[in-house]
Amino acid sequence: MAAPRVRPMGRGDVEAAGEVARVAFADLDRRVRPWREASGPPPRTHGMTVRAHLLDTDPEGQWVAEAPDGALVGAACALVREGLWGLSLLVIDPAWQDRGLGRDLLARALGTLAGARGGIVVASADPRAIRAYARAGFALVPTLAATGVVRAGALAPVPSVREGTRDDLALTERVDRRVRGAARGHRDLGASMESGSRLLVADRGYALVFGAKVVTVAAEDPPTAAEVLRAALLTVPPGTPTEVPWMTAANPWAVEVAVAAGLDLRPAGPICTRGAVGPLAPYLPSGAVL
Ligand SMILES: CC(C)(COP(=O)(O)OP(=O)(O)OC[C@H]1O[C@@H](n2cnc3c(N)ncnc32)[C@H](O)[C@@H]1OP(=O)(O)O)[C@@H](O)C(=O)NCCC(=O)NCCS
Repeated sequence: MAAPRVRPMGRGDVEAAGEVARVAFADLDRRVRPWREASGPPPRTHGMTVRAHLLDTDPEGQWVAEAPDGALVGAACALVREGLWGLSLLVIDPAWQDRGLGRDLLARALGTLAGARGGIVVASADPRAIRAYARAGFALVPTLAATGVVRAGALAPVPSVREGTRDDLALTERVDRRVRGAARGHRDLGASMESGSRLLVADRGYALVFGAKVVTVAAEDPPTAAEVLRAALLTVPPGTPTEVPWMTAANPWAVEVAVAAGLDLRPAGPICTRGAVGPLAPYLPSGAVL
């Protein structure tokens, strides 16, 4: 059979790309993280809505693979913010995996890394993804993920943290520049809020929560990071499974909060970095907007 064609993503591809992502990650869960069904968050994802703006902000970073019958079978999305490149998505339909398509799409998405001061990918636990990032010159930083239900009464209320609005995105920009050398601000965190994420802010840090899942945390000091993470976990309805992803050794405050909350800790996919990316602490990245 003829090979799929890799081409730039168009607006008409967004929905199909979201469906490929849904199927590929559901298949990944079955293969490498079956525990996620029992103790992970409910299957509610941003899908592609959180990435649709990338077609405007980073058109050269959006790619798809199209099968000979016209079906979309893969997608890659990359963004560059203030000199920092990030991979927002790399997925291949399970029926088309293992044929070099992921490698091809990644190579296209990496096109916009040239000229950036650094790059970051928050990898899944798929060995093919990890291998592809290592071969593309990224250093791999191991992580833990926490999942499960927050134990009743385990976390005290956090009065220093309040619900944020778009007016607080300036604060997120200040904090992001410190922890990752580049702001996500209105374009990316704003898009996440528009698709339903809640922003929680303290004077020196913030968290974004989507449904029952902690999307990202960043702060100017570890105690503030721990506070906003605790506040984020307290927004999860009692009894609902949650997830705190991508905790590195540079972020022990997150592990401490997860342990105090009674969550399960497991090794997860690495954070992959190239060049200058900032301290990445105190910080938990978002897979979609990094
Ligand atoms: C990860 C993913 C994008 C890779 O795409 P793919 O088309 O299946 O992978 P490729 O065929 O391009 O292979 C990538 C690398 O993994 C290797 N590989 C292939 N099958 C493998 C396997 N079963 N185990 C380990 N490595 C494997 C390939 O040889 C290649 O390495 P090489 O360049 O050194 O030869 C795809 O499998 C996928 O969508 N997975 C689920 C979603 C996901 O985890 N996405 C990544 C999010 S960060």
